[in-house]
Amino acid sequence: SAAGKAGHDHYMHKEIHEQPTALRQAISGRVDDLAGNASLNIDLDDGFLQTIDEIHIAACGTSYHAGLYAKELIEPLVDISVRVDLASEYEVYDGHNTQDTLVVAVTQSGETADTLSAIRRAKASGMTTFAVTNTVGSTITREVDDSLFIKAGPEIGVAATKTFVSQVTALALFATYLGRLRGTISADEGADILEDIRQLPSAVQAILDEEAQIRRLAAQYSDSKAFFFIGRGLAQPVALESALKLKEISYAHAEGFAAGELKHGPLALVTENTPVLAFLNQSAAPEETRNNVKEVESRGAPVIGLATDGADESFCKHTIDIPELGRLEPLVANVALQLFAYHVANEMGRPIDKPRNLAKSVTVG
Ligand code: AGP
Repeated sequence: SAAGKAGHDHYMHKEIHEQPTALRQAISGRVDDLAGNASLNIDLDDGFLQTIDEIHIAACGTSYHAGLYAKELIEPLVDISVRVDLASEYEVYDGHNTQDTLVVAVTQSGETADTLSAIRRAKASGMTTFAVTNTVGSTITREVDDSLFIKAGPEIGVAATKTFVSQVTALALFATYLGRLRGTISADEGADILEDIRQLPSAVQAILDEEAQIRRLAAQYSDSKAFFFIGRGLAQPVALESALKLKEISYAHAEGFAAGELKHGPLALVTENTPVLAFLNQSAAPEETRNNVKEVESRGAPVIGLATDGADESFCKHTIDIPELGRLEPLVANVALQLFAYHVANEMGRPIDKPRNLAKSVTVG
């Protein structure tokens, strides 16, 4: 209903705009400044979390992209190897050290069949399981050893928006918690990460305030042949996520690539009719991505750069400024591309909240 959408044309638009509030809910009461730690009420045994030597993350779609982002956060902060699998591909091989592995399911709904069956396979082989979810009382919460709630509030649009940023935020808190517990980060380092987390709602608001610019760019390029998204490091999962969002709601051909992979194949697709959206955030080797931008520009592609506020990216045809926010800057940039996807789809007159062939919660395997 119109009332449910609170004046927005679509739930997706409403939910994009709810992100500062959703993030405040995800963070509230979970930051302990003095200890430089996250307070998360984790029930898993401290001794177990101190001695595990591997984390597996299993998830689908947007939640899989949140898992990829989490890997980039957890590995350097916690000094542990993280394997991220599509839940439908997750397998446990004989001989795997199941005692020292934590398996994390990331699922907004808590009802995704592929993710539930991955968790069941993990449990059957004796592994400890953990869920990061938005849905209290969901099937997954009844099956895992412990859950962390992302507190994003209900999400109606088929396209996941606020739940993606809230998942990554909850996983950033979890990374801080594990790093402090295992002594791989100091209280000062923990406090720095928590400070970035605390800045997230206002950084996201700064992007929402730039919606008019993003809408103009979307209108300018909505009839393009295809859209490519490139990024490195923390921005690579966001490139994948931005492409998924655009293809899901606009039906346009969109692909995300690791920027370094362009020259290994995808560059052949680049023409003057394929806008390239490039993440030039400081945390992800912006000089190297700049070279990739030049490669696509020399093939005539219009480039929209997502660049740290104040950086000179005048070589890009267009630039969207992203507030500087360390490891979380690509997450903020993602919000700009949620708006881009929304406005491209809206220009094309698509049924944004209910794209053809898709369901909000995929309960069949
Ligand atoms: C995201 O926009 C999609 N609708 C989809 O990829 C979704 O993220 C996926 O089906 C996983 O859902 P879940 O988080 O509820 O498990």
